[in-house]
Amino acid sequence: MAIIFCENLTKIYRSGFWKLKKVVAVNRLSLTINEGEIYGLLGPNGAGKTTTLKMVVGLAKPTSGKILIMGKEPKDSEIRKNIGFLPEQPYFYEYLKGYELVYLTAQMYGKEVSSKRIYEVLELVGMIEAKDMFLKNYSRGMLQRIGLACCLITEPKILILDEPMGGLDPIGRKEIRDLIIQLKKAGKTIIFSSHILSDAEMLCDRIGILIKGEKVKEGTISEIVGEEIYEYEIIFSNVGEVYLPEIKRLAKDLIRSGDKWMATCEEEGKREHLLSLIQNFGGRLHSLIPRRKSLEEYFFTFMKEKRDAL
Ligand SMILES: Nc1ncnc2c1ncn2[C@@H]1O[C@H](COP(=O)(O)OP(=O)(O)O)[C@@H](O)[C@H]1O
Ligand SMILES: [Mg+2]
Repeated sequence: MAIIFCENLTKIYRSGFWKLKKVVAVNRLSLTINEGEIYGLLGPNGAGKTTTLKMVVGLAKPTSGKILIMGKEPKDSEIRKNIGFLPEQPYFYEYLKGYELVYLTAQMYGKEVSSKRIYEVLELVGMIEAKDMFLKNYSRGMLQRIGLACCLITEPKILILDEPMGGLDPIGRKEIRDLIIQLKKAGKTIIFSSHILSDAEMLCDRIGILIKGEKVKEGTISEIVGEEIYEYEIIFSNVGEVYLPEIKRLAKDLIRSGDKWMATCEEEGKREHLLSLIQNFGGRLHSLIPRRKSLEEYFFTFMKEKRDAL
Protein backbone atom coordinates (compact mmCIF):
# COMPACT_ATOMS: atom_id res chain seq x y z
CA MET A 1 0.00 0.00 0.00
CA ALA A 2 1.23 3.49 -0.80
CA ILE A 3 1.93 5.30 2.45
CA ILE A 4 3.23 8.42 0.71
CA PHE A 5 1.87 9.54 -2.60
CA CYS A 6 3.04 12.64 -4.48
CA GLU A 7 1.74 13.69 -7.83
CA ASN A 8 3.21 16.35 -10.10
CA LEU A 9 4.86 18.16 -7.22
CA THR A 10 6.41 21.43 -8.24
CA LYS A 11 8.15 23.99 -6.12
CA ILE A 12 9.22 27.31 -7.53
CA TYR A 13 11.17 29.62 -5.25
CA ARG A 14 11.11 33.31 -5.96
CA SER A 15 13.95 35.34 -4.62
CA GLY A 16 15.61 38.72 -5.00
CA PHE A 17 14.23 42.13 -4.04
CA TRP A 18 11.32 42.12 -6.49
CA LYS A 19 10.91 38.35 -6.25
CA LEU A 20 11.82 38.21 -9.90
CA LYS A 21 14.38 35.47 -9.72
CA LYS A 22 12.71 32.13 -10.21
CA VAL A 23 14.21 28.82 -9.22
CA VAL A 24 12.37 25.65 -10.14
CA ALA A 25 13.60 23.51 -7.25
CA VAL A 26 11.27 20.55 -7.89
CA ASN A 27 9.60 19.92 -11.21
CA ARG A 28 6.50 17.76 -11.67
CA LEU A 29 7.72 15.05 -9.36
CA SER A 30 5.59 12.01 -8.74
CA LEU A 31 6.53 9.53 -6.05
CA THR A 32 4.88 6.53 -4.49
CA ILE A 33 6.42 5.11 -1.35
CA ASN A 34 5.15 1.82 -0.04
CA GLU A 35 4.64 0.94 3.58
CA GLY A 36 7.73 -0.58 5.18
CA GLU A 37 10.06 0.50 2.42
CA ILE A 38 13.42 2.26 2.58
CA TYR A 39 13.49 4.73 -0.27
CA GLY A 40 16.62 6.70 -1.16
CA LEU A 41 16.24 10.06 -2.80
CA LEU A 42 19.55 10.61 -4.51
CA GLY A 43 21.08 13.39 -6.47
CA PRO A 44 23.79 16.04 -6.49
CA ASN A 45 23.65 19.22 -4.44
CA GLY A 46 20.88 21.51 -5.54
CA ALA A 47 18.86 18.67 -7.11
CA GLY A 48 15.80 19.43 -5.00
CA LYS A 49 16.04 16.68 -2.39
CA THR A 50 15.63 18.89 0.68
CA THR A 51 12.79 20.82 -0.94
CA THR A 52 10.98 17.56 -1.76
CA LEU A 53 11.35 16.24 1.77
CA LYS A 54 10.22 19.55 3.27
CA MET A 55 7.07 19.47 1.14
CA VAL A 56 6.33 15.92 2.22
CA VAL A 57 6.75 16.88 5.86
CA GLY A 58 4.57 19.93 5.39
CA LEU A 59 7.32 22.51 6.01
CA ALA A 60 7.24 23.90 2.47
CA LYS A 61 4.14 24.54 0.45
CA PRO A 62 4.16 23.08 -3.05
CA THR A 63 3.64 25.59 -5.85
CA SER A 64 1.47 22.93 -7.43
CA GLY A 65 0.79 19.23 -7.16
CA LYS A 66 -0.61 16.89 -4.62
CA ILE A 67 0.74 15.06 -1.56
CA LEU A 68 -1.13 12.42 0.36
CA ILE A 69 0.27 10.66 3.39
CA MET A 70 -1.74 7.69 4.57
CA GLY A 71 -4.46 9.17 2.42
CA LYS A 72 -4.42 12.59 4.10
CA GLU A 73 -2.69 15.93 3.65
CA PRO A 74 0.67 16.48 5.39
CA LYS A 75 -0.69 19.24 7.62
CA ASP A 76 -3.30 16.94 9.18
CA SER A 77 -2.46 16.72 12.88
CA GLU A 78 -2.81 12.94 12.96
CA ILE A 79 -0.35 12.71 10.06
CA ARG A 80 2.13 15.09 11.70
CA LYS A 81 2.40 12.80 14.69
CA ASN A 82 3.18 9.96 12.36
CA ILE A 83 6.13 11.61 10.68
CA GLY A 84 9.55 11.94 12.24
CA PHE A 85 11.76 14.41 10.39
CA LEU A 86 15.51 14.78 10.72
CA PRO A 87 16.60 18.00 9.02
CA GLU A 88 19.80 18.27 7.04
CA GLN A 89 21.72 20.25 9.61
CA PRO A 90 19.79 20.11 12.81
CA TYR A 91 20.54 23.01 15.07
CA PHE A 92 20.47 22.23 18.74
CA TYR A 93 21.04 24.46 21.72
CA GLU A 94 24.56 23.61 22.83
CA TYR A 95 23.99 23.70 26.59
CA LEU A 96 21.31 21.08 26.65
CA LYS A 97 22.06 17.52 27.55
CA GLY A 98 21.04 14.67 25.27
CA TYR A 99 18.36 13.43 27.61
CA GLU A 100 16.92 16.94 28.05
CA LEU A 101 16.71 17.49 24.31
CA VAL A 102 14.69 14.31 23.79
CA TYR A 103 12.49 15.17 26.78
CA LEU A 104 11.83 18.71 25.51
CA THR A 105 11.07 17.45 22.03
CA ALA A 106 8.50 15.07 23.45
CA GLN A 107 6.91 17.94 25.35
CA MET A 108 6.78 20.08 22.23
CA TYR A 109 4.58 17.46 20.65
CA GLY A 110 2.29 17.94 23.62
CA LYS A 111 2.72 14.36 24.55
CA GLU A 112 3.31 13.16 28.05
CA VAL A 113 6.19 10.80 27.49
CA SER A 114 7.39 8.53 30.26
CA SER A 115 11.05 8.48 31.14
CA LYS A 116 10.92 4.79 30.32
CA ARG A 117 10.07 5.66 26.73
CA ILE A 118 12.89 8.20 26.57
CA TYR A 119 15.34 5.59 27.79
CA GLU A 120 14.01 3.12 25.24
CA VAL A 121 14.63 5.54 22.42
CA LEU A 122 18.08 6.53 23.70
CA GLU A 123 18.93 2.85 23.94
CA LEU A 124 17.75 2.24 20.39
CA VAL A 125 20.00 4.95 18.94
CA GLY A 126 22.92 3.93 21.16
CA MET A 127 23.02 7.14 23.20
CA ILE A 128 22.35 5.93 26.72
CA GLU A 129 25.90 6.43 27.88
CA ALA A 130 26.14 9.93 26.45
CA LYS A 131 22.71 11.06 27.62
CA ASP A 132 24.06 13.43 30.27
CA MET A 133 26.67 15.12 28.12
CA PHE A 134 26.14 18.62 26.77
CA LEU A 135 25.26 18.66 23.08
CA LYS A 136 28.23 20.90 22.41
CA ASN A 137 30.50 17.99 23.28
CA TYR A 138 28.78 15.56 20.92
CA SER A 139 30.44 14.44 17.70
CA ARG A 140 28.59 14.87 14.43
CA GLY A 141 27.52 11.21 14.55
CA MET A 142 26.21 11.58 18.10
CA LEU A 143 24.22 14.67 17.11
CA GLN A 144 22.75 12.72 14.23
CA ARG A 145 21.76 9.90 16.58
CA ILE A 146 20.24 12.17 19.20
CA GLY A 147 18.35 13.89 16.36
CA LEU A 148 17.02 10.48 15.38
CA ALA A 149 15.99 9.84 18.97
CA CYS A 150 13.93 13.05 18.81
CA CYS A 151 12.29 11.84 15.60
CA LEU A 152 11.39 8.54 17.18
CA ILE A 153 9.93 9.75 20.44
CA THR A 154 6.35 10.03 19.17
CA GLU A 155 6.58 6.56 17.63
CA PRO A 156 5.96 7.75 14.07
CA LYS A 157 5.27 5.29 11.28
CA ILE A 158 7.25 7.31 8.76
CA LEU A 159 10.79 8.66 9.07
CA ILE A 160 12.06 11.33 6.74
CA LEU A 161 15.78 11.85 7.02
CA ASP A 162 17.62 14.55 5.11
CA GLU A 163 21.24 13.50 4.52
CA PRO A 164 21.38 11.40 7.70
CA MET A 165 24.91 10.28 6.88
CA GLY A 166 26.11 13.74 5.93
CA GLY A 167 29.44 14.77 7.40
CA LEU A 168 30.12 11.40 9.00
CA ASP A 169 33.23 9.28 8.68
CA PRO A 170 32.90 5.73 7.30
CA ILE A 171 32.31 4.21 10.73
CA GLY A 172 29.70 6.83 11.61
CA ARG A 173 27.97 6.20 8.28
CA LYS A 174 27.86 2.50 8.94
CA GLU A 175 26.34 3.05 12.38
CA ILE A 176 23.57 5.20 10.93
CA ARG A 177 23.01 2.68 8.13
CA ASP A 178 22.69 -0.14 10.66
CA LEU A 179 20.27 1.96 12.66
CA ILE A 180 18.14 2.65 9.60
CA ILE A 181 18.00 -1.08 8.85
CA GLN A 182 16.98 -1.74 12.44
CA LEU A 183 14.20 0.85 12.15
CA LYS A 184 12.92 -0.80 8.99
CA LYS A 185 12.79 -4.09 10.86
CA ALA A 186 10.71 -2.34 13.50
CA GLY A 187 8.18 -1.60 10.76
CA LYS A 188 9.01 2.00 9.86
CA THR A 189 8.80 3.43 6.38
CA ILE A 190 11.89 5.48 5.70
CA ILE A 191 12.81 8.03 3.06
CA PHE A 192 16.25 9.51 3.19
CA SER A 193 18.23 11.73 0.91
CA SER A 194 21.88 11.46 0.08
CA HIS A 195 24.36 12.70 -2.44
CA ILE A 196 26.64 9.82 -1.54
CA LEU A 197 25.29 7.05 -3.60
CA SER A 198 27.10 4.13 -2.06
CA ASP A 199 25.09 4.75 1.13
CA ALA A 200 21.98 3.79 -0.76
CA GLU A 201 23.49 0.75 -2.38
CA MET A 202 23.51 -1.19 0.85
CA LEU A 203 20.28 0.11 2.25
CA CYS A 204 17.46 0.94 -0.10
CA ASP A 205 14.62 -1.14 -1.42
CA ARG A 206 14.28 1.45 -4.17
CA ILE A 207 15.99 4.65 -5.15
CA GLY A 208 14.96 7.66 -7.15
CA ILE A 209 17.52 9.89 -8.80
CA LEU A 210 16.75 13.59 -8.89
CA ILE A 211 18.58 15.96 -11.16
CA LYS A 212 17.58 19.60 -11.40
CA GLY A 213 14.30 18.92 -9.66
CA GLU A 214 13.28 16.09 -11.95
CA LYS A 215 13.17 12.40 -11.26
CA VAL A 216 15.31 10.94 -14.00
CA LYS A 217 15.39 7.36 -12.81
CA GLU A 218 13.70 5.12 -10.28
CA GLY A 219 13.88 1.48 -9.33
CA THR A 220 15.73 -1.09 -7.30
CA ILE A 221 19.49 -0.72 -7.22
CA SER A 222 19.93 -3.80 -9.40
CA GLU A 223 17.40 -2.49 -11.90
CA ILE A 224 19.36 0.72 -12.17
CA VAL A 225 22.96 -0.34 -12.03
CA GLY A 226 22.85 -4.11 -12.36
CA GLU A 227 21.05 -4.70 -15.57
CA GLU A 228 21.45 -1.50 -17.40
CA ILE A 229 25.20 -1.14 -17.30
CA TYR A 230 27.16 -4.31 -17.36
CA GLU A 231 30.74 -4.77 -18.25
CA TYR A 232 32.60 -8.02 -18.71
CA GLU A 233 36.20 -8.57 -17.90
CA ILE A 234 37.85 -11.39 -19.79
CA ILE A 235 41.32 -12.54 -18.83
CA PHE A 236 43.12 -14.80 -21.25
CA SER A 237 46.57 -15.86 -22.43
CA ASN A 238 48.23 -17.79 -25.20
CA VAL A 239 46.81 -15.87 -28.13
CA GLY A 240 49.37 -15.13 -30.86
CA GLU A 241 50.26 -11.46 -31.45
CA VAL A 242 48.83 -11.58 -34.95
CA TYR A 243 45.35 -12.24 -33.63
CA LEU A 244 45.34 -9.45 -31.10
CA PRO A 245 44.14 -6.67 -33.44
CA GLU A 246 40.95 -8.61 -34.07
CA ILE A 247 40.35 -8.96 -30.34
CA LYS A 248 41.14 -5.31 -29.86
CA ARG A 249 38.52 -4.35 -32.42
CA LEU A 250 35.79 -5.96 -30.33
CA ALA A 251 37.02 -5.01 -26.90
CA LYS A 252 36.49 -1.73 -25.17
CA ASP A 253 39.93 -2.02 -23.62
CA LEU A 254 42.75 -4.47 -24.02
CA ILE A 255 45.47 -4.42 -21.42
CA ARG A 256 48.52 -6.60 -21.03
CA SER A 257 49.84 -7.78 -17.73
CA GLY A 258 52.76 -10.20 -17.92
CA ASP A 259 51.75 -13.06 -20.16
CA LYS A 260 48.05 -12.38 -19.66
CA TRP A 261 45.65 -10.05 -21.38
CA MET A 262 42.55 -8.44 -20.05
CA ALA A 263 39.81 -7.43 -22.44
CA THR A 264 36.69 -5.59 -21.37
CA CYS A 265 33.47 -5.31 -23.28
CA GLU A 266 30.03 -3.98 -22.60
CA GLU A 267 27.65 -6.16 -24.54
CA GLU A 268 26.76 -9.78 -24.20
CA GLY A 269 26.98 -10.25 -27.97
CA LYS A 270 30.52 -8.96 -28.06
CA ARG A 271 31.40 -11.04 -25.05
CA GLU A 272 30.32 -14.24 -26.81
CA HIS A 273 32.17 -13.22 -29.95
CA LEU A 274 35.35 -12.49 -27.98
CA LEU A 275 35.17 -15.79 -26.14
CA SER A 276 34.82 -17.74 -29.36
CA LEU A 277 37.70 -15.82 -30.94
CA ILE A 278 39.96 -16.62 -28.00
CA GLN A 279 39.01 -20.26 -28.30
CA ASN A 280 39.51 -20.33 -32.08
CA PHE A 281 42.93 -18.74 -31.75
CA GLY A 282 43.95 -21.48 -29.35
CA GLY A 283 43.99 -19.15 -26.37
CA ARG A 284 43.43 -20.03 -22.76
CA LEU A 285 40.61 -18.44 -20.83
CA HIS A 286 41.47 -17.58 -17.22
CA SER A 287 38.38 -15.77 -16.08
CA LEU A 288 35.22 -14.08 -17.16
CA ILE A 289 33.95 -11.60 -14.62
CA PRO A 290 30.84 -9.50 -14.96
CA ARG A 291 31.50 -6.07 -13.52
CA ARG A 292 28.59 -4.30 -11.94
CA LYS A 293 29.03 -0.61 -12.09
CA SER A 294 28.73 0.96 -8.70
CA LEU A 295 25.99 3.46 -8.25
CA GLU A 296 28.62 6.17 -8.02
CA GLU A 297 30.04 5.30 -11.42
CA TYR A 298 26.57 5.02 -12.87
CA PHE A 299 25.69 8.42 -11.59
CA PHE A 300 28.70 10.12 -13.10
CA THR A 301 28.21 8.39 -16.44
CA PHE A 302 24.58 9.46 -16.40
CA MET A 303 25.45 13.06 -15.61
CA LYS A 304 28.11 13.13 -18.29
CA GLU A 305 25.73 11.77 -20.92
CA LYS A 306 23.18 14.41 -19.93
CA ARG A 307 25.75 17.18 -20.21
CA ASP A 308 27.05 15.89 -23.52
CA ALA A 309 23.51 15.81 -24.87
CA LEU A 310 22.98 19.48 -24.10
N1 LIG B 1 14.44 29.01 0.35
C1 LIG B 1 14.93 29.02 -0.89
N2 LIG B 1 14.85 30.13 -1.68
C2 LIG B 1 15.33 30.12 -2.94
N3 LIG B 1 15.89 29.06 -3.53
C3 LIG B 1 16.01 27.94 -2.81
C4 LIG B 1 15.54 27.86 -1.45
N4 LIG B 1 15.79 26.60 -0.99
C5 LIG B 1 16.38 25.93 -2.01
N5 LIG B 1 16.53 26.73 -3.09
C6 LIG B 1 17.10 26.34 -4.39
O1 LIG B 1 16.37 25.23 -4.87
C7 LIG B 1 17.22 24.27 -5.48
C8 LIG B 1 17.07 22.93 -4.79
O2 LIG B 1 17.61 23.02 -3.48
P1 LIG B 1 17.54 21.85 -2.41
O3 LIG B 1 16.15 21.34 -2.34
O4 LIG B 1 18.16 22.37 -1.16
O5 LIG B 1 18.47 20.75 -3.09
P2 LIG B 1 19.32 19.55 -2.45
O6 LIG B 1 18.77 19.25 -1.10
O7 LIG B 1 19.14 18.42 -3.43
O8 LIG B 1 20.74 19.99 -2.39
C9 LIG B 1 18.61 24.86 -5.43
O9 LIG B 1 18.86 25.52 -6.64
C10 LIG B 1 18.53 25.84 -4.29
O10 LIG B 1 19.44 26.90 -4.47
MG1 LIG C 1 19.70 19.13 0.72
